[in-house]
Amino acid sequence: MTAPLLSLTWTDHLTGRRGHLVVDRLVRGVCSGGLRMREGCTLDEVTGLARGMSLKEALHYDPAARYVPLGGAKGGIDCDPRDPEAYGLLVRYLRAVRPYVESCWTTGEDLGLSQDVVDRAAAEAGLVSSIQAVYPLLDDERAARERLADAFAVEVDGIGLDELVGGCGVAESVLTALDRAGAPYAGTRVALQGFGTMGGATARFLARAGLTVVAVADVKGTIADPAGLDVEELLAARDAHGTVDRGALRPGFAELPSDAWLSAEAEVLVPAAVSYAIGPREQERITARWIAEAANMPVLPEAEELLHARGVSVLPDVVVNSGTNAWWWWTLFGDIGADAGEAFAHTRRSMRALVERVLARAESGGTTPRQAAHALAEQRLAAVAERFGHHR
Ligand SMILES: NC(=O)c1ccc[n+]([C@@H]2O[C@H](COP(=O)([O-])OP(=O)(O)OC[C@H]3O[C@@H](n4cnc5c(N)ncnc54)[C@H](O)[C@@H]3O)[C@@H](O)[C@H]2O)c1
Repeated sequence: MTAPLLSLTWTDHLTGRRGHLVVDRLVRGVCSGGLRMREGCTLDEVTGLARGMSLKEALHYDPAARYVPLGGAKGGIDCDPRDPEAYGLLVRYLRAVRPYVESCWTTGEDLGLSQDVVDRAAAEAGLVSSIQAVYPLLDDERAARERLADAFAVEVDGIGLDELVGGCGVAESVLTALDRAGAPYAGTRVALQGFGTMGGATARFLARAGLTVVAVADVKGTIADPAGLDVEELLAARDAHGTVDRGALRPGFAELPSDAWLSAEAEVLVPAAVSYAIGPREQERITARWIAEAANMPVLPEAEELLHARGVSVLPDVVVNSGTNAWWWWTLFGDIGADAGEAFAHTRRSMRALVERVLARAESGGTTPRQAAHALAEQRLAAVAERFGHHR
């Protein structure tokens, strides 16, 4: 793999904790990639995620659209987001990497951080916005910023649009795979790891499509009911970190260990929390037919090989969870307006087309969906580079 364009590690002078920034590549001088905060976050992890962002951007390349993919990047801070020091650390990290945010790195929420917190910390660090580097690429900066701000203010049944579009994309990926296999939605069971931004929204869209959510794991353990959980009740019982308050739920569910979601009797598994959740040992326990990677890098390569060999289809992160990132840019560049209906319709259409294409390519080439997605992304990266130049 080619080395990234830029890779840095910062050490906080007060706590000694570390933060990383990796820019995989730039397109028109700009790159995109969220900022995560978790205990144990490493430079290797951030490097892999930055590469994934380049692919994720490229996969949504449509020569006829106003949004042209950016390069890929990622930031990561090694700290538990619930640590009392976390916010101060975030502000100091953003101050340290401010020249990059000002000139080339557009960022936003990722694991452990919400957009509100990133925005507040960015302002405190003296930044105009966490995506200000893209402003020079806009035709009408003021109108574009207003449109995005309006879109962020949209809520649907108590959840912000920005926290829903990603899960809308994950859910549509699952539905596309079910449709290709001729599997009905009703009676199809789902188990999720993670009930934050991605997991929560994915569960809502799948439940509304008629699927049954039978298990949800958060940082405290797995909540399960083979007859089906009430997703809206769970959503209403979440705190800002995506932890479900068990005391706020009606009795009748089972509380199982944190890894119980893996072996839940379900057709679909949605890892939507941490990276590296499914290794060779964990995969042995899986009876599902599809795994939709809402999280980044949840399935290890050795596990994926074993799963593929026994007919379990892993729908890859670069495709499945690309909806949030694409929505920001579709909205900012003006492909869609600040409207939930328009956002969901565009997300569904784009994700369905992409997943169809990836699954068809995997089937005809006899590869995994991930190999097919990477081949498609490489083709599109080449097309973007042809149009705007090579900037690695
Ligand atoms: N938020 C986005 O827009 C977005 C977009 C693309 C990909 N992702 C990826 O999706 C994943 C989740 O991101 P998010 O923004 O939803 O995070 P979040 O912080 O909103 O939620 C994380 C959820 O995972 C749970 N969790 C954490 N550690 C766990 C563990 N060890 N076992 C079980 N549950 C655990 C938490 O309790 C919480 O429910 C990450 O890999 C992230 O990179 C997020």
